[in-house]
Amino acid sequence: MELQEPLEPRAIGAYLRSTQPGRGRNSFAPERIHCRAEVDSTNEEARRLISAGWGAGTVVTAERQTAGKGRLGRSWQSEDGAGLWFSAILEPEVSPEYAAQYSFVAAVATAQAVRMETDLAAKVKWPNDVLLDGRKLCGILLEFVPEQSLLIAGIGINMRQKAEDFPPDVREKATSLALAGAADVDRARLLGAVLRQLEDGCRVLAEEGFAAIRDRWMALSCVIGRQIRVQFPQGRTERGVAEGLDEDGALLLRTEGGRVRILSGDVSLRAEDGSYFLA
Ligand code: BTN
Repeated sequence: MELQEPLEPRAIGAYLRSTQPGRGRNSFAPERIHCRAEVDSTNEEARRLISAGWGAGTVVTAERQTAGKGRLGRSWQSEDGAGLWFSAILEPEVSPEYAAQYSFVAAVATAQAVRMETDLAAKVKWPNDVLLDGRKLCGILLEFVPEQSLLIAGIGINMRQKAEDFPPDVREKATSLALAGAADVDRARLLGAVLRQLEDGCRVLAEEGFAAIRDRWMALSCVIGRQIRVQFPQGRTERGVAEGLDEDGALLLRTEGGRVRILSGDVSLRAEDGSYFLA
């Protein structure tokens, strides 16, 4: 893997100044970008920035994370310059129980930014993964900070890894922009594009409500209408056809026993040979 120039705020700011933000109510406008060489996790660094008084619109990136965090208590491998590892601080306009709506905003923003900066057809998978060709390109971890009522949206986009750079247990399920044929994407531009899309999605959520985000997510989804299997954190599984999202962002699954609302779990898609694969 070839190392790239470290990210620096000027390049990201230059991209942001070259694009027009939408006008209107917003819970996120990218304003202050902190670029670190190494942190434990950009979500933890964002938490420290919040404690130090930084607020919505603050973004922190890192070249590498020594303890990158994934969903459901997993770890997220984040090697030096291999991808974009960053967290954005948002001020949610909805009450905390609806804060998960922002994870759909973030997934749509990332998929759209990847589509804009490459010619790759990025899709989203419930709840908030971004996939290319059925393999996971990006993961998103949302954490709410109740003391300041702020939300940390941590986003990891794989960019330069070769297959052997991924740990063996995720090698078959993960991909990077380079593996998908887009090796030359500029990290500062891609980050700028995600931040602008995130800003736009937050405005749409504030002004038009979750239904508008849900429509965008459904249009990019690779699960709706498909046979899927959901593995719950406790190990139980459920199979059925993914029908849509409800107001809370729960996945609606049509099973033999009726309709089920899924609030947490890992979704696998059913392949033509009847097997299920988990991106
Ligand atoms: C997942 O399990 O799919 C979520 C992965 C989220 C990874 C990103 S990388 C930047 C931010 N900092 C972290 O520690 N995690 C998120």
